Formats: sequence, structure tokens, C-alpha cells
Amino acid sequence: MGPKWLSTAVFYEIYPQSFQDSNDDGIGDIPGIIDRLDYVASLGCNALWINPCFDSPFMDAGYDVRDYKLVAPRYGTNDDLVRLFAEAHARGMHVLLDLVPGHTSDQHPWFKESARADPNEYSARYIWTDEALWGMEGRPYIAGMTERSGAYMLNFFASQPALNYGWLDPYKHWMSATDSPEALATREAMRDVMRFWLDQGCDGFRVDMADSLVKNDDEHKSGTCAIWRDVREMLDADYPEAALVSEWSNPGQAICSAGFHADFYLDHQHNGYNTLLRDYETEGGDHSYFRCDAGGSIQRFLRDYLPKYEQSRDRGYISFITCNHDTPRAARTLTPTELKLAYAFILTMPGVPFIYYGDEIGMRYLDLRTKEGGYQRTGSRSPMQWCHEKNYGFSKAPADQLYLPVDEAADAPCVEDQLADDNSLLSEVRRLVALRRAHVDLQADAPFSVVNDDETSAPFVYRRGNMLLAVNPSSATKRFRDERLLDKGLVYCIGEVDVTEGCLTMPGQSFAVLG
Ligand code: NOJ
Repeated sequence: MGPKWLSTAVFYEIYPQSFQDSNDDGIGDIPGIIDRLDYVASLGCNALWINPCFDSPFMDAGYDVRDYKLVAPRYGTNDDLVRLFAEAHARGMHVLLDLVPGHTSDQHPWFKESARADPNEYSARYIWTDEALWGMEGRPYIAGMTERSGAYMLNFFASQPALNYGWLDPYKHWMSATDSPEALATREAMRDVMRFWLDQGCDGFRVDMADSLVKNDDEHKSGTCAIWRDVREMLDADYPEAALVSEWSNPGQAICSAGFHADFYLDHQHNGYNTLLRDYETEGGDHSYFRCDAGGSIQRFLRDYLPKYEQSRDRGYISFITCNHDTPRAARTLTPTELKLAYAFILTMPGVPFIYYGDEIGMRYLDLRTKEGGYQRTGSRSPMQWCHEKNYGFSKAPADQLYLPVDEAADAPCVEDQLADDNSLLSEVRRLVALRRAHVDLQADAPFSVVNDDETSAPFVYRRGNMLLAVNPSSATKRFRDERLLDKGLVYCIGEVDVTEGCLTMPGQSFAVLG
């Protein structure tokens, strides 16, 4: 299954721009993250994922890398990042960097060389057609910007040309095969980047658009999977403690075929994860399961999740997230009580969970103008709200010089207030993470099964190892009578749950763990 530490990991995702500014320039940085490591540890989180922190023109918030081996000056220096690894390790925490293997910035020196008319070492590092005026294959290409006659393929935004890992079945002479020298050179260049950071103490990578490497790949993504299997071989041999987590959201491919240790369960319209928290794009209103009395059903989640879980459970982990930097914060539509129940569920499921910074206090989705290619994602990227000092303690810079504005609402949540309130979302999250870490049955490997999914009058009940868990997101009291409850006592609850003589009584909006 890969590195042992993953099985007990609870991740905290940090968007470095917005976490903590240490030098008063209005933008978060690595020394700021180091200053807040004790806070992250106090949540119970023992692993970090940091969004790209490398040199970049920031047309896509750093997912447009200009130099994979240089920390962006606005975040600090390479020495700062190495110090972050050491400080995290000293606290028993692991750190994943964000690897962007599918594309670079169009300002990357490889691309600049590649765009030259004279052939050179980098001419085939990206995907180019052989002339600028026609012959493009229906995908996004850019032509007319370079001295080289050709059009280059994009992997995402216009500033992000696709690196060349070849085509599964090349059918034009300018398309490389996946085992061509140029495609192999791209793979080697990316492995070199990985080794560079692993050698300095990083514990692995979250991999951006991990499924995007080989072009015209088949439905199984067999070309792309083969590349990652090679990477995994390198890790197993040379860095057996390093973890690989994919942005793929298809564990059958990412875990079972490509060899990732974990794969994110992302918010895709109508998938199981989406039906839990963010079902508001559905016709007829928001039926999110954790919205009280919204008419949601756990069945929709289970239909999507169970086959994925069964398929991948022996090979790796499905990663539930509270949110991420691309997704609207759940507090956009859920109340703090609804969030407590949703997080209780996320933090007691198999696999490796990720908490997005600020979700532990219910930070809101803000209506913000786009920043660095964020567009509608920008509203989930605002500065962390720590305390009642200037800019919520995020930065001492003047408010108009902040990377993004802070939440102006009079009742905006902050860490300081919630630490002082035992009933706050933050206090609940701390208890839930501690609960998970205290019980092997609630961690990554313990098996999951459904005990009751008929919610007409009973709560949803599921098993993890030897523990039974129940959730009732509705406002009605629900009961579950079962002999399996006879030898169980209440280990944890949200709401006034009762279990007596084999009958579990769950008031509206409650959660229970029985062991
Ligand atoms: C996924 C990342 O999470 C997102 O923020 C980015 O814009 C794209 N990949 C392109 O790299």
C-alpha cells in the first residue's frame, strides 16, 4: 500500500498565498507557514499539501511553473522550504509538494527554447504541429505567437503549453510515440524534478492533472498509467517513504493501474462526493445530503462510491476532501451544524482525508474578482482568518495591498473566537481528528460497509472495523434497533444521542460513533 505513515495521515491543504504573511508584503509565504505549524499540529493534522510554491508568472496561481527547482521569491527561498520540511518532520508531520507534470508556463526556459525556429534540445519537449497554419487536431492550440512555424498544444489555460509525453497512437508525423526519445526525455526531466525535492526532504507529491500526460490516450488511460507505474517503481526503489496522491478522481485507473497511493474524490457534478455537500447545480434545487431536510439521500453517494471503494481498497486510498482551492467552500450553503456532520462523515471514512485551510472554522466562499486565473475559484482562496488583529492576523500590510481581501462580514469566523468556544466548528474538528487518530478502526485501512441505508425512520449506519457509526442529517428523530448494538457503547457523538438495550436514538442533526 506504500508508505506506512499514509495510513494514519490527516492532511491540511495550504494555499500559500493566503495562509500567513511573515514579511508584511500582503501575501502569504513559507516562513509564515512555519510560524503556523504548531496550529496545524494542534488540529491533529499530521501532513501538509502545499499548492505550487515555485517560480512562476502566476497566470494560474502557480500551476504555470517557470522553474520547478526554485521557490517563488514571493514565498521565500529554497532554504526556507527545506527548513519547512525539517520543522514539519520535527513535529511528526509530512509534507507533499504540488507537482505539475502536464504543462509548464509559456515563460519556462524549456518552452522559450522550444519556440525557437532553430531546432534545439527542447524543440520536442512540448507538443507542436509542424506548421502554423493548419493541421491542428481539434484541441486547443496556439499559433502565431512564435518564430517557430507550428502551433503548440495547450494543457489548460493559454499560458500552459502541454509537455510532450507522446501520443498513444500517433497518426501524424509530428506526433511523438510514447517511447520516442523526446517523450522519454520529458519523463526523465520530471523524474529529475521529483528527485530534486525528495532529496531535500519533501515527502511526496500531490500530482496535478495526473491523467493528462499522453495525448489521445485510450479509455483506460493506458499510456498515461504506464508512465506513472515507472515513477512508482522509482519511488519504491529509491524513496519508499514518499507518497503520490493524484488529481484524477478515478481510483480504478489512478490507484489500480497507475500506481498512485491515493486519489482525490473531487467535486464533479453529480458524482457521489458532490451529492454530499454541493448538489446545488441539480435541477429542482439543492438536495445535498448534509443539508438538513433538503431531500438528499445517501443512496446517491453510495451508488458512486461503493464500486470505487471495492475496486481500489486493497491497493490504495480514496481521499475525501472538505474542499480545495478549485471548489466552492462548503460553508457557501451549509450551516456550521451541517458542516460538523459533514466533516464527521469525511473524517471517519476510509482512505486519507484532506482539510482545506480555513474549512475548520467554516470560512466562507466570497464573491471576489478573479485573481491569478482563479475566476470563480477565487472566492475559496481568501486570507486565513486567525484573530481580531488587523487583516485577521493574516498580514500587517495595508488592507488594499493584500493578495486577496479578507472576509468583511461582521460575523466572519476566526480561529481566536472558535478556540475559546467548545461548541465551535473548530473545536468539533479538533475532537474529530483526535478521535480518528485514536482509533485504528477509523483510519485509512479499516474496512467500510453499510449497515443501514434505509433512512425512512432510521439513521444511515455504517461500519468501520469493529465500530458502528451513524449519522442523521435531517431534523427528525430517527431510531435504529439492532442486536449488533447490544455490546456497543457511545464513543463519540454530536447531539443528544442515546443507545440503550440495542436501540440507538438519534435526534435531528446528530452523529454517533459506537464501539
Ligand atoms: C488543477 C489545479 O488544481 C488547478 O488549480 C489548476 O488551475 C489546473 N489543474 C491546471 O494546472
